[in-house]
Formats: sequence, structure tokens, C-alpha cells
Amino acid sequence: MINHRGPEFAALLADLTAGVRRVLQTEYDVLFFPGSGTGGLEASLVNTLSPGDRVLAITIGAFGDRYADIADSFGLAVERYAVEWGQAADPGEVRRRLQAAPTTRAVLITHNETSTGVTNDLAAVAGAVHEHSDALLLVDGVSSLAALPFAMDELGVDVVVTGSQKAWMVPPSLLLVGVGPRAWEATRTARLPRYYWDFQAQRAAQARGVTPYTPPLSQLFALRAALDIIEGEGLAAVYERHRQVGGYTRRGLARLGFALAADPAHASNTVTAARPPQGVAAADLLRRVRERHGIVLARGQGKWTDEIIRVGHLGRVNRAAIRRVLQALAHELGDG
Ligand SMILES: Cc1ncc(COP(=O)(O)O)c(C=O)c1O
Repeated sequence: MINHRGPEFAALLADLTAGVRRVLQTEYDVLFFPGSGTGGLEASLVNTLSPGDRVLAITIGAFGDRYADIADSFGLAVERYAVEWGQAADPGEVRRRLQAAPTTRAVLITHNETSTGVTNDLAAVAGAVHEHSDALLLVDGVSSLAALPFAMDELGVDVVVTGSQKAWMVPPSLLLVGVGPRAWEATRTARLPRYYWDFQAQRAAQARGVTPYTPPLSQLFALRAALDIIEGEGLAAVYERHRQVGGYTRRGLARLGFALAADPAHASNTVTAARPPQGVAAADLLRRVRERHGIVLARGQGKWTDEIIRVGHLGRVNRAAIRRVLQALAHELGDG
């Protein structure tokens, strides 16, 4: 450990800020909080909005639902645009809803929905939002950033939230938040209560080379190493590797008789959700793969809890790793 109020920490913070800015493709602020993705979703709302503000929550799965639920719990006037699970949001529908509700203050969207394995077309949705309203665009980038192409400033994203444990390849509990100029403007009038998550306090401290409260120092060291790996490979190559591994995973699962849950036009390159072949129970398959092959895959979430399996393929992952997963599944399906 180092003194997190000393000069070494200030140098580390400056270095990490520059590195994360390059990944987010922003010239604006990057805030480093101790916490997980959900804390970041809450932070994005309480710093920019006031009680009763109207928000359009686009939800295509369990994490979109969570973002909407947090907004509800803070007394925002939430309109949910809920899309059938497995599908992506329709930018035309976003446009229609914003035109019908011109006082909408913010649009909430999950870039990559981890529960269904679907990636929203963020560029198209952002275009619809900015063309037809002044609403802030708040993005959950927990399972997309550092794996899927993303350019904060070009997209006009006002706040983006991401978590260390996903494609950043860092242990859990470091929260990264990108904040743009329109969001800073909103923080000046936003009246929702906040203290620990206060963006202004965080920015002021970071400008002095510290954080307001004790930072997750080990994760920040790990992030330094992860940024070296990402920059060594190159961001474009990282995105391309995820694209290839995503396709490889989907083709492999389909060959084994799984039904892919995502609309193929919007299938995620960081996580694949799939229904096992007829007669195979997802929970049983997951247990056998774990116990007999030492491979931990995920079950579904929400209404898909017992229906699907999910294979994560983000961060430090390659075809060889996925090949082992597919071989283990093939073995167990054969045995079944
Ligand atoms: C898209 C998305 N949003 C939010 C979260 C919540 O993050 P956390 O569990 O870090 O609070 C997750 C976690 O998997 C996620 O995948």
C-alpha cells in the first residue's frame, strides 16, 4: 500500500485518469469511486435529477429494470419503455416517446444487457435522443466498456457508469464514472439527496490528487496493470477480439443444439445467453460443468433464471478458453 493522501497516489490518479479517458474516448471527467456498478447507476441519477423529474427508462432486461427501479425509488417520474427480452431497443420508438413527452429530463439505457446477451445500438439511440430532446443520456456501461466500441464524447453521453470486475479485468468494487459537461451543469440544480456519491465533491478532491474518502487502492493498482494490457493490445484489437470470440461462442453453442436468446442482429460480444436443447435442465447442466470440468457458467436472471445458461466472454478471454467451455458442454450433453 501507499499513502492514499500522498504524492505517489496523486501520480497514480493522474495516470489512471488519462488511461480511462482514452478508453472512454472522452476529454471530460472520470471519477473513481469505491463501489459496484449499481452504486454508479444510483449516482448517475442523484447527481443530475430532482424529485418528480420525468425520465425515460429503456429496459431490455434485468439490468434495465434495475436502473428503472432505482429511479422509481428516488421519486422520479419514470416512463418505462420495456422491450421484449432478447430484443434491442428500437430508436424509432425512443424518438416517438420523447416527442410525446418533451419535458423528459433524462434517458436511461443499458448499453449491453448482461441478463439477455443483447447490445443496444447506442449510436442510433443517442442520435434519436439528441435530435428530439434536451434530455440527458445516462448509460449503464458495466458489461460493455473496454470490450465493445464506445466513444463518450462522439455519442454525446452525459454520464457513463462501468465496473472494474467486467472487461476491465480488475477485481470487483472499483466504480468508474465518466461525466460530461451537460451532466456537470445538471449537478448545479439537481436536488436529489446525495453525499457519498456527490460528483462535485469527488471532482474537487480528484483535482487535488486525492479522493474524498478512502479509495480502493488495490483495485487502482490492478487498473494500472489492466490499462497496460489494454493499451499493449490496442483498443481496436481488443474490440476485434471480443467480436471474434462472441461469434465463435454463438456458433459453437448453436452447433451443440442451444437456442440463442438474443436477436442475432444485436447479439452481445461480451456475454451469450442460450437455452439448452430440449429435455436438458439448465441448472443441472451448469452443476455438471462446474463439478466435472471446473468451469463456472452463469444461470439466467429474473424470469429467465431457470431457462438459460450464460457464457461470459469479456476481458481476458480468447478462443481457446471458449473451446474448453464448448467441449465441456458437449461432453455433458453427450453424457446426458
Ligand atoms: C449491465 C449491468 N449493469 C449493472 C450491473 C450491476 O453491477 P454490480 O453488480 O457491480 O452492482 C451489472 C452486473 O452484472 C451489469 O451487468
